[in-house]
Amino acid sequence: MHAGNTRHPIGRTTAPSELIHAHCADILSSPGMQVERKCIQHGDTSVLEHSVAVCAHCAIIARTLRIPVDERALMRGSLLHDYFLYDWHVPDPSHRLHGFTHPGRACRNAVRDFDIGPIEQSMVRHHMFPLTPVPPNCREGVILCIADKIVATRETIHGFSLKLGGARRGRRGA
Ligand SMILES: [Fe+2]
Ligand SMILES: [Fe+2]
Repeated sequence: MHAGNTRHPIGRTTAPSELIHAHCADILSSPGMQVERKCIQHGDTSVLEHSVAVCAHCAIIARTLRIPVDERALMRGSLLHDYFLYDWHVPDPSHRLHGFTHPGRACRNAVRDFDIGPIEQSMVRHHMFPLTPVPPNCREGVILCIADKIVATRETIHGFSLKLGGARRGRRGA
């Protein structure tokens, strides 16, 4: 059970992987993560790979800037931020407006499946700001917002370069 939201800076020598294993073992071993493993987020990156990368970036940002954070909430909220549990590339009426609706859906799923508190819920709900109008209301949410955009941009560029490489190889092969 999460004891509270005391905030402290992450230790300078603490690796993000240590924090993920310390705080998120129950999440990583859950059936929901198997769903995330099969769903693509950006390019050729699965939702699970994306979420772990965002989680690690949150730890790196907080550690580098010496921001006092609720370490457990930061790790759990960021790992669960895209816990919407479907492949948004599959055409389906329920996937319409995915960008706007998935934070709410992810939050409802996360509350149903895991022990998370108000900080984690707020992080998940507001991570798409400024696409969704309400900004994060806690520092962990701001860190998540930034980390998500950095990682998503990198994955999208990587996806484009893979496609471009494939097209070039296709032309050379033709
Ligand atoms: Fe998202
Ligand atoms: Fe994301």
